[in-house]
Amino acid sequence: MNIDKGYVEATIPEGIDLRAEIKRLKEEKNAVILAHYYTVGEIQELADFVGDSLALAQIAEKLDNDIIVMCGVHFMGETVKILCPEKKVLVPDLNAGCSLADSCPAPELKKFIAAHPGHTVISYVNTSAAVKALTDIVVTSGNAMKVVGSMPPDAKIIFGPDRNLGNYINSETGREMVLWDGACHVHEKFSLAGILDLKKKHPGAKVLVHPECPAAVRLVADKVGSTAVLLKWAAEHEDATEFIVATESGILHEMRLKCPGKTFIPAPPDDAACACNECSFMKLNTLSKLYLTLLHELPEVTVDENIIDRARRPIERMLELS
Ligand code: 13P
Ligand code: SF4
Repeated sequence: MNIDKGYVEATIPEGIDLRAEIKRLKEEKNAVILAHYYTVGEIQELADFVGDSLALAQIAEKLDNDIIVMCGVHFMGETVKILCPEKKVLVPDLNAGCSLADSCPAPELKKFIAAHPGHTVISYVNTSAAVKALTDIVVTSGNAMKVVGSMPPDAKIIFGPDRNLGNYINSETGREMVLWDGACHVHEKFSLAGILDLKKKHPGAKVLVHPECPAAVRLVADKVGSTAVLLKWAAEHEDATEFIVATESGILHEMRLKCPGKTFIPAPPDDAACACNECSFMKLNTLSKLYLTLLHELPEVTVDENIIDRARRPIERMLELS
């Protein structure tokens, strides 16, 4: 067994039923599996809970299992560890990062905050634990509008790292939050021309857009919202049967399950030759890695105790406001 690459490398016996083994290990070790909507369908199907970033944080806080396996990206594992420091928190692959979180290194944010005295720092959950430790309140795409709305109208706010989500909140609320200039490599790449082409072929289709998409794409949206909000909207709109979905394509799995009979079309990326509407980090969660993670209880997410102490309060403030 080797963990040098950030995930367990070991021989898996031929013919093994991975699904059955994962379920057995889960029971044996009192473990629970959380999965984000962007992971592959087979991981979502095995998970005890599937959700968006907000739901997964809310669920994690209430769990009494000894081991929590977070199938998502690294910052989601860190959030769980901050909320449940006494638990063993595992991720199938430590390389599952996030381009948006990486766009905001903590030392740079510290300088930015120093250059804007008197500002409240609101950070998107897609950030490292070290960035959360510099933050006053954390938000997810599911509650950002509500949390910002709870601030006094004249509050001076730094919002980061996603400039598109920040722009969206500024345009909806008339605020002038100072924005960090970061973005997600998946949501930045949806093609407006491609979505309009799809609209010509499917004139009745509703366009669902995640707020991490740029303003031009949001302008053609019938609904802007977090993954959970888009899912709910599609399920509740009984008159609509076709949807063009401008967020990571993993969500289509749950949309098709929740809305049988409806058609979900992934919005195309600007380069037709790439699979840019897939988050390569999320797709690092595979069944074999999940099995080996449960078997060896590795790799474990660790967060410095000092950081946990400072990062916990801004996450709890978000959960209290949600
Ligand atoms: P949600 O908050 O909608 O789950 O999105 C998380 C994310 O990583 C978006 O790219
Ligand atoms: Fe990060 Fe973008 Fe992947 Fe979401 S889709 S986890 S923001 S890289």
